Amino acid sequence: MNSLPSALPLRRWRALLPAVALVLCAHASAKDLARVASPDGALVVTLESQHEDRLAYRVERGGKPVIAPSRLGFLLGDGRLERNLQLTGQSSRSFDETWEQPWGERRLTRNHYNELRASFAEKASGGRKQGRRFDVVFRVYDDGLGFRYEFPKQDGGNGEVRIRQELTEFAIARPATAWWIPAFEWNREEYLYSRTPLAEIGVAQTPLTLRTDDGLHLSIHEAALVDYAGMNLAKGDGGVLRAALTPGGGARGTAVVRAMPFATPWRTIQVGARAGDLAESSLILNLNEPNRLGDVSWFTPAKYVGVWWSLHLEQETWGTGPKHGATTANTKRYIDFAAANGFRGVLVEGWNPGWDGDWFANGWGFDFTRPTADFDLEGLADYAAGKGVHLIGHHETACAVSHYERQLPAALDLYARNSVDVVKTGYVCDAGDIQRQDQAGGPVSREWHEGQWMSNHHLRVVEQAAQRHIAINAHEPIKDTGLRRTYPNWVSREGARGMEFNAWGNPPNPPEHEATLAFTRMLAGPMDYTPGIVSLKGRGGQQIPSTLAKQLALYVVLYSPIQMAADLPEHYAEHPDALQFIRDVAVDWEESHVLNGEVGEYVTFARKARGTEEWFLGSAGGEQAHDLRVELTFLDPARRYRAEIYRDGERAHWKTAPFDFVRETREVTSTDTLPLHLAAGGGQAIRFVPMDSPVR
Ligand code: NOJ
Ligand code: CA
Repeated sequence: MNSLPSALPLRRWRALLPAVALVLCAHASAKDLARVASPDGALVVTLESQHEDRLAYRVERGGKPVIAPSRLGFLLGDGRLERNLQLTGQSSRSFDETWEQPWGERRLTRNHYNELRASFAEKASGGRKQGRRFDVVFRVYDDGLGFRYEFPKQDGGNGEVRIRQELTEFAIARPATAWWIPAFEWNREEYLYSRTPLAEIGVAQTPLTLRTDDGLHLSIHEAALVDYAGMNLAKGDGGVLRAALTPGGGARGTAVVRAMPFATPWRTIQVGARAGDLAESSLILNLNEPNRLGDVSWFTPAKYVGVWWSLHLEQETWGTGPKHGATTANTKRYIDFAAANGFRGVLVEGWNPGWDGDWFANGWGFDFTRPTADFDLEGLADYAAGKGVHLIGHHETACAVSHYERQLPAALDLYARNSVDVVKTGYVCDAGDIQRQDQAGGPVSREWHEGQWMSNHHLRVVEQAAQRHIAINAHEPIKDTGLRRTYPNWVSREGARGMEFNAWGNPPNPPEHEATLAFTRMLAGPMDYTPGIVSLKGRGGQQIPSTLAKQLALYVVLYSPIQMAADLPEHYAEHPDALQFIRDVAVDWEESHVLNGEVGEYVTFARKARGTEEWFLGSAGGEQAHDLRVELTFLDPARRYRAEIYRDGERAHWKTAPFDFVRETREVTSTDTLPLHLAAGGGQAIRFVPMDSPVR
């Protein structure tokens, strides 16, 4: 190890010198302790002991460094836990299973990894008698790795661990381009992604996406964020990214307080040659615990419409009065529209008392247990049921989270009684301003959306909802870390700039936004982006930077098991061709593949619908036009298909000709190659329907 390859010409040596010096320094007194490789042998993780018995790990792929030696450890309430660490034992095992998702972007997922467990104890030193103990567990897959710390029950102290900061590092071994959003800013996750050199990252949220100068794609994130603070990444020296845990609120001043035994979330590094490898990886889901809810066939993946876009256009209001959106008559109109088009859900926002006046500031005034006088919840539920439609509930908390929790059982009971089986929740307030009140009438303290307390809050909601067979779609959520595997009623969430920004403008989401999301936010899990704005206009007629065809492509590109047809019924009436695709597109998939893509430039997904033989293709472009070609090898070679193509016309451009749109059909087989023309800000959507005549 660490022997210098002598065959390198001098010229290349010079270029490498700074990096080599760094590695040599870090390795000056390093000693390898343990090693584990991925099932295919390409990814290798090595644990090493450094100066003063500090602990570090490094990662190589095909023999080349991906993660340079990176420290592990903690800043605890009773001092740093990072020096004098002695390996007391290690074990390894292999695991290989294929598990089934009740709904998802693929039905079957292979969970195949090699695991290393290394146990450490602090040597007695500096007056500290009792050595603290913990394990580090690595799971190495072909498409990346996860590691976590586990604290066993141990003597001494009060059995509690107070974590002020994690000292976990990710030292990216090569210069890289990064796509990231800032952490700790007021608008939570709702920022445009910055594309910068790795060196220019400030404090970023995860998932954070990187492309190294030798073309490798990486994503750093976490899996199974349970009873713990969300991890951000702060740029340190060189290529080092350091864990920056979200602080705890109130007087605690500590990010995490846990009783032993406990395990941290998994720290994850996805690794792929193509950008698409990141989007195809199931690493995050695999690192979560299996389904705890048992049979969840009561959740139906479906499309929905609702009183939503008109609120953001300011045509209607959440509050009561002459423009109130959630009235009985208006909701009936949406139910009729849903029934006529085969959409299962109708979302109604502004149905309950509390919205009048400045609702942002009125969280403690929300009542989730009764409707406003002009909204006949029971009558509408019956009316919907008669047409095979379900109301979708809405709980906007405006961050008065304890107030919401107190009403939660009654609020969910009310919905369950009225066949509402999906509830959209909301946490609108500035970052760090979640309001927590442990006892009614007691003091109110402030928490972060991504802190330990909120990680528990969301699971309290999800568990109570599951008891009533209700699914949750959280807006202004805590980030997704794959918990839908364990709680398959946590079906979707926001957690990025969604379509609402296109209603508001100032500025709208730029043309490359969705091709960036596909390789950043979407690596965390499903997003309720709410596509399908076929009018391509926001508030005051402001143009949305998208072509019509791209709005359709988003149903395939941005995965969610609930997908909104977000525009107004009268706008769909003006675009019957586009509406046809939205009616036809599936929301639950047997398998999903990324055919091509570059972060922020373009991306093409092919997905096979679950329960039918249909395939769908969605391709979303960015600022520049692209002419791509895709081989249809994913199709069943024994079948012919009618390809129903919805594409940008020759003149299409998001700015000058967004409605230049072509709908055409072609007969294709798996041996065909299709041209994909994506206009600037454009896209393409295709439905492949098997034909009766098989291929001979
Ligand atoms: C923000 C959500 O993202 C949006 O969808 C919702 O309409 C408003 N909050 C009101 O709850
Ligand atoms: Ca939002």
